[in-house]
Amino acid sequence: MAEESKNRESRDRESRNRESTIREIDTVDKIIRQRCTSKYLADEPLNSKLSRATIEEVIEAANFGPVHLTASKVHRSGEDDSILPWRFYVLQAGDCRSLRDLLISRGDGSKVPNMLAAASALIQVTWLPNPLETNSQIGVDPGVGADTETHIEVDGSSNLQDRLYDATIENMEHIAAASAAVQNMLLAATVRGIPTYWSSGGALRKADVFSWLEIPQREMLLGSVFLFPEDETGARVVPGKLRDKRGGTENWVKWVEFL
Ligand SMILES: Cc1cc2nc3c(=O)[nH]c(=O)nc-3n(C[C@H](O)[C@H](O)[C@H](O)COP(=O)(O)O)c2cc1C
Repeated sequence: MAEESKNRESRDRESRNRESTIREIDTVDKIIRQRCTSKYLADEPLNSKLSRATIEEVIEAANFGPVHLTASKVHRSGEDDSILPWRFYVLQAGDCRSLRDLLISRGDGSKVPNMLAAASALIQVTWLPNPLETNSQIGVDPGVGADTETHIEVDGSSNLQDRLYDATIENMEHIAAASAAVQNMLLAATVRGIPTYWSSGGALRKADVFSWLEIPQREMLLGSVFLFPEDETGARVVPGKLRDKRGGTENWVKWVEFL
């Protein structure tokens, strides 16, 4: 009898585990599909209710992405000693508005100031290139690589963010790992109902913006990640251009079968 009751308990436990696994699968799949680009554009600054604690939770998710190679020592000194090949620079809403003012005052006519007026947070994500081994860069010494900051012109005509970097497997893996970290962050935002936009940066790639935000010029901008308010009031919301153009997996998946 005792044996029978033990078996029943174990079957019940298994069934509960299966149910909770199914729920988790549903949730994860739903969030992956729900993540989408939403660009919020506002003419006047919006109020933000997003707390620093929630932004921290979203960023924390990035810390669980896969990572293969450690960042070069040229990027690691003093307090900034993380082995991870990326860095995040976080601006809360008030600082987004201040950055907007700076961009407007230097004549920025792009949509970036409109997005900074709407943003609840901006996360400038950089990846950390290995020191250059080639001499193919304008104004960048071989061996010293992206460390040099002597050739920046603030008008953007010699913008180090537009320079090339060595096409090495190592750099590819740094970018890949940093991208996985960003995707984790986008999913963590999505499950919390926070609209997101991964932008190439535009004006936010410029040398002067890097200086204002105290981002070392040797780092490369992987993306400017905007977190926006749930409430669309006061904003125009624009979706990602390629959202509905991606087609099905059959267009890019080949099943390889050895006979
Ligand atoms: C690396 C990267 C950079 C991007 N930069 C821009 C950008 O500068 N401007 C833009 O409109 N969308 C940008 N996007 C967002 C894409 O437009 C968007 O992901 C795509 O249209 C698919 O839409 P979805 O994100 O809603 O699925 C970028 C996406 C990635 C991954």
